[in-house]
Amino acid sequence: MASSALISNTEPWKDLKAHVEDINKIHLSDLMTDTHRCQSMILEFEGNLLDYSRQRATLDTLNKLFSLTEAARVKEKINRMFNGERINSTEDRSVLHVALRAPRDAIINSDGKNVVPDVWAVLDKIREFSERVRSGAWVGATGKPLKDVVAIGIGGSFLGPLFVHTALQTDPEAIEFAGGRQLRFLANVDPVDVARNIAGLSPETTLVVVVSKTFTTAETMLNARTLREWISSGLGPQAVAKHMVAVSTNLTLVEKFGIDPNNAFAFWDWVGGRYSVCSAVGVLPLSLQYGFSIVEKFLKGAWSIDQHFHSAPFEKNIPVLLGLLSVWNVSFLGYPARAILPYSQALEKFAPHIQQVSMESNGKGVSIDGVPLPYETGEIDFGEPGTNGQHSFYQLIHQGRVIPCDFIGIVNSQQPVYLEGEVVSNHDELMSNFFAQPDALAYGKTPEQLLMENVPQHLVTHKTFSGNRPSISLLLPSLSAYNIGQLLAIYEHRIAVEGFVWGINSFDQWGVELGKSLASQVRKQLHASRKKGKPIEGFNFSTTTMLSRYLQASAN
Ligand code: F6P
Repeated sequence: MASSALISNTEPWKDLKAHVEDINKIHLSDLMTDTHRCQSMILEFEGNLLDYSRQRATLDTLNKLFSLTEAARVKEKINRMFNGERINSTEDRSVLHVALRAPRDAIINSDGKNVVPDVWAVLDKIREFSERVRSGAWVGATGKPLKDVVAIGIGGSFLGPLFVHTALQTDPEAIEFAGGRQLRFLANVDPVDVARNIAGLSPETTLVVVVSKTFTTAETMLNARTLREWISSGLGPQAVAKHMVAVSTNLTLVEKFGIDPNNAFAFWDWVGGRYSVCSAVGVLPLSLQYGFSIVEKFLKGAWSIDQHFHSAPFEKNIPVLLGLLSVWNVSFLGYPARAILPYSQALEKFAPHIQQVSMESNGKGVSIDGVPLPYETGEIDFGEPGTNGQHSFYQLIHQGRVIPCDFIGIVNSQQPVYLEGEVVSNHDELMSNFFAQPDALAYGKTPEQLLMENVPQHLVTHKTFSGNRPSISLLLPSLSAYNIGQLLAIYEHRIAVEGFVWGINSFDQWGVELGKSLASQVRKQLHASRKKGKPIEGFNFSTTTMLSRYLQASAN
C-alpha cells in the first residue's frame, strides 16, 4: 500500500480535522442543552444503556465519523473478520474469537472449514472433565478430590480469565456453584507469585492448569516446571498425570512437557491470545470453579454482542460507536489516554484486561501494509473501580489533563446491602457517584459560581473546574455471567473498530518480541557468570554496572 492510501489522506479524515475547530468553539455544557442531540446519543441493547451525549461531539461529528468508516471500509473489514478471512496478515491467520461463543448450529468458516464443531468438541470435553473434577469422580494421586485449581498463564492466557473470575466471584448464582472451591492464577515469573499462589494449598487436592497458546512462553513454562516439581516432590512423579492438565494450541509441546494429551484442551491459531478468554483458556478454569452452565451463559452474552456488532447499523451499533468516539478523541481531539471506571468492585480486573486487549492490539507504528503512520494509534488505558479511583487519580482528570472516561455502572448489585437508618442503600450510594462524576467532568464549575458561593477570592482559581471533559456512561442491568460476556465483547469489538479505522493490524503483537530476546541474552550471561564465573560482557556501561551489582549482591 502506498502512503497515499492511508486513512489520514482521505477527505473524511481531513474533514474531521477541520471540524475540530467547530467543536473547540462549543463547551460540553452547551452541547448538553440540546435535548434532541442528547436523545440521539442514548442507545439501548438488551437492557444495556449507552449514553455518549457527554462526548465533545455533535450529530454532525457523528455523520463525519460514519463517512470515515466508509473511507476505512470498516463494514467490509468486519465482514471479513466474521467470514474467517486472514485479516491478521502479518501472522497469516484469521481472527475468529467470535466462533468461540457461537451456538452449536452456527456455521463459521476458516479456510473453507466450519470451525464451530471443533469449538464444541472442546467445550463438550471441558464440560465432561470439569464435571468429573467437581463431582469428585476425578481424584488426585492419593484418592482425594481436587478442590483447588491453580491456572498458570500470562498475558492473554491470564488477564481475561482473571477478569471474569473476579467478576463472577460475588455473583450469587456463581457462588452457589463454586461451593468451597478455589481458583488462583499464577502469572508472574517472580518466585514470590509462586509462593503466594501455593500458600495454604496442598498438592494432594490441587489441580494445575497450564495455559499457554504457544507453550513456549518463558514465564509460564518456568512456573509450570516449578509447580510440576511441587507436585512430584510431594506426591511422586506419577502424580503429575492426575494433577496437571493443559490448554494450548501446541499439543506436541504439551505432551513433551509430560502432560497426557488426553488431558489437554485445544484451541486454534485463529484465536489471538488476548482474545482467547472464550476458548479453553478461560472456559476450562472457570468451568472447574463455577461449572460449565455458568460459563455457557457468559459465552451466550458475548455471542449476543457479536450478533449486534455484525448486524446493527452503525448508528445503533454500540461497539462501532464506541470505537469511532475513541478515534475521534485520540486522533482528532488529541486525547491519548482513556480511563476505564467501573462502579463495581467485581469489575476490578476489567481495566487490566482491557489494557492488554487495547494496548497490545492498537499500539502500532505502521499500517497493516507496513507503511509508517503519520498519526498515533492506540490509547493509554488505565482504570480502577469507582469510588476508589475518586480518592486516587480523579484530581488529575478533573483539573489536570483531559482524559476521556468510560463510566460503567450496574443497575442491580450482586450483593445489595440496606442499612436501617441510612438515607440510601449502599449500592445507591455507589451509584450516586456514578451519576455525579460525568456531569462534574462535563460542566465543571465557573469562577462566577464560586463567587456566588462566597468562596474567598484567593481560592477561586484553585476551586475552578474548566469542565468540557468527555465521558461515556454504560449502564448494565446486572453483573450476571451473561452481562459479563456482553461487556467483554463490547470492548473487544470496539478495539477492533479503532484498528480498522486506523488501518493497522490489531491482531499481531511484534512489539513484545525485542524485550523477550534481550532478556534471553541476559539470562545466558547470568548463567555463565554464576556457573562459570565469566565476566559480564556485550552490554553497555549502564547494564553492565547494574548486572554486576546484582550478581555481587544477590544470594540467588
Ligand atoms: O505478551 C505477549 C504474548 O504473546 C501475548 O500476546 C500473549 O497473550 C502472552 O504473550 C502469552 O502467550 P502464551 O499464551 O503463548 O503463553
